[in-house]
Amino acid sequence: MIAIACDHGGYALKEEIKKYLDEKEIEYKDFGCYSDERTDYPLYAVPAMEAVQRKECDKAILVCGTGFGMTIVANKFKGIRCASCWNEEVAKLLRAHNDANVIALPGRFINISQAVVILRAWLATEFMGGRHTDRLDMIKEIEDKNMK
Ligand code: RB5
Repeated sequence: MIAIACDHGGYALKEEIKKYLDEKEIEYKDFGCYSDERTDYPLYAVPAMEAVQRKECDKAILVCGTGFGMTIVANKFKGIRCASCWNEEVAKLLRAHNDANVIALPGRFINISQAVVILRAWLATEFMGGRHTDRLDMIKEIEDKNMK
């Protein structure tokens, strides 16, 4: 199950992404927002990240104007690794090197065709392990020290 959330800057793209997920029969839970009326991205990122932390969702897709606000909120949660992605190559690396369980998308800078290419790459790419595992272990130590 994929958690999906947006603010007004990501609303239009999130709705298109939902159509793509429906087509592919990929299950998701939509945490809002539900219109393009101006709002605040933490309101929607927080419940989506809590669902990932509770393991109700194993991944999440967050969309705001740049993907940056959503990314900043997401990475405040222990066990979440998220970055904003704007092309296929960085999406693959986000999984292969960083084992990211959350992806953010810049709704004001990419269209649905670009988002589909990015999401396909992110969903299909496996974590490479090896030297990257050591780095994730270091991140976990930082989390254990700095987050409750
Ligand atoms: C909203 O105007 C915009 O700031 C937001 O969607 C996002 O880009 C923030 O990082």
